[in-house]
Amino acid sequence: MRTIYFITSNNGKLHEVQTRLSPLDIDVVQKNIGYPEIQAKSLEEVATYGIEQLRYRVDHPFILEDTGIFIDALKGFPGVYAAYVYQTIGLDGLLHLLDGISSEKRRAIFRSVFGYGDPEGSTHLFIGECEGMIGFEKKGTKGFGYDPIFIPEGKKHTFADMTTEEKNTQSHRGRALEKLISFLSE
Ligand code: IMP
Repeated sequence: MRTIYFITSNNGKLHEVQTRLSPLDIDVVQKNIGYPEIQAKSLEEVATYGIEQLRYRVDHPFILEDTGIFIDALKGFPGVYAAYVYQTIGLDGLLHLLDGISSEKRRAIFRSVFGYGDPEGSTHLFIGECEGMIGFEKKGTKGFGYDPIFIPEGKKHTFADMTTEEKNTQSHRGRALEKLISFLSE
């Protein structure tokens, strides 16, 4: 069994990653130690900066992950500010911003960036995307964050209506995670 630290305070993310990695005999240990998340234009910059800050505080290989959601009708908003928007106007406020917007224009993309770092100085990024649309109302009780309003392409249900395993097969994080798994098995 191999161990990797996941630097996160988000139990939803932790659960998704553990669900995928534990059958591969990788023990994902949560470290809720916090790190500076800079206000940058890209998720990659946020992740890279986080790794550089953590490398000297963590004596073991670790991962972190940053997500953004980019909505067409809002010209990419909230993008990298997804956490702030979630905490302020919330899902109801976001749905309100989309009042009167047709389904074609409700197209949205989730992006996930995993950062891998280790005390030796390696940094690697793994990116995954999931296209879909913002629904007209909140649906489903599973998952976290924007899951109740995000319907992945080709599906009728939101992420919040899916099991963790089902979400992992098509989500931004699930896709980035597959790339991380290939790297870890090299
Ligand atoms: P962060 O990566 O933790 O900064 O997440 C940004 C925002 O997106 C937070 O409000 C999260 O709750 C939300 N979020 C992150 N990943 C997901 C996801 O897989 N589904 C729905 N919301 C998510």
